[in-house]
Amino acid sequence: MKRKDLLYIKDLSKDEILEILEEAKEMRKLLDKGERKLNVLSGLNVTTLFYENSTRTRVSFENAAKILGASTSSISVATSAVQKGETLIDTGKNLDALLCDFIIMRHSQSGAPSHLAKNVNAKVVNAGDGMNEHPTQALLDAYTMRERFQDFKGLNITIVGDIKHSRVARSNIYLLSKLGARVTLCAPKTLLPIDIEKTGAKYDNCIDSATKGADVVMALRMQLERQKAALFPSQREYHAFYGVKAGHIGKNTMLMHPGPCNRGLDIASSAYEHENSVILPQVTNGVAVRMAILKLLKEGND
Ligand code: CP
Repeated sequence: MKRKDLLYIKDLSKDEILEILEEAKEMRKLLDKGERKLNVLSGLNVTTLFYENSTRTRVSFENAAKILGASTSSISVATSAVQKGETLIDTGKNLDALLCDFIIMRHSQSGAPSHLAKNVNAKVVNAGDGMNEHPTQALLDAYTMRERFQDFKGLNITIVGDIKHSRVARSNIYLLSKLGARVTLCAPKTLLPIDIEKTGAKYDNCIDSATKGADVVMALRMQLERQKAALFPSQREYHAFYGVKAGHIGKNTMLMHPGPCNRGLDIASSAYEHENSVILPQVTNGVAVRMAILKLLKEGND
C-alpha cells in the first residue's frame, strides 16, 4: 500500500481495501497460532493520541503495535500539554521530535487527521474523527463479514440506529458500496444524515422489514453526546422501535455492533448474547486488522 497515512475509507481503492483484508487474514493466523512477538516494527514507535474516549480502538492499536515489535506511547489528552493550550499541529511536530513513527489519532473534529497528516513526518492513522469516518472499524467489520461470506457482491447488510452521528456507519457505507454490497439504513428520520441519497443506500423506517432476510444486521450506538436537540421522544420508545432484539436475527443472520453497546437502548441483551452475535470476535479481528494496517504502511514506506 503506497501511502503515508490511512485517513479515510473514501480515499482507499477497492484493491487497497482487499490488500488490507488479505494481510489481516495472515495476521489473524499468526494470532491464532499464539504469536505475540514479531519483528515487523522493531525499532519503531507507535503513539496513540486520543482526544476522545476509547476502549477497543486504543487497546487494539497498542496491542497490535506491541505484537509487531514496536514500542508504544499513549497520550491521554486530559493529562497532556494540550490542556495548557498547545495546538494539534504543535503537538504533532513535538511527537515527530520525540521520534514517533506512527500517530494513531482520535479527534472530535471531522478532518483533524488529514490536517495533522499534512504537517507531520509520522504516519497518521485515523482512529475516528468526529461524525466523519472510523476507517479501521469499517475494515475490521468487513474482515469479520468476509470470514463468513466469501463475496460482498449482493450481500444484504442492514445498519440500524443513530446513523446521522455515526462515523462507523459512514465508513461502512463507503466500504461496503466499494465492494458491491447492498446497504439498507434503518433509523428514525431525525437520525439520518441529510445526504442519504448520495450514499446509494436504501432507507427503511421499519426495523422488522429492514432486518428481514438480511445477511448482516449491524446495530449502532446511540451517540447522545453528539446530539444537540431531542431527536426521539424517549429512550424507552426508541428501544421499542429501533433497538435490535433477538427476533430481528434470522437463522443465518450475522449480528454486529462496533461497541460500546448500550444494552436496553440500541441493542437488547437477547441480541448481544445471541448465538449469531459476532460482537466480541469483531474486537479480536480489530487487533489483526490494525496489525495489517501498521505493517502495510511501514512496508509502503520501505
Ligand atoms: N468501536 C470503537 O471505536 O470503540 P471504542 O470507542 O471503545 O474505541
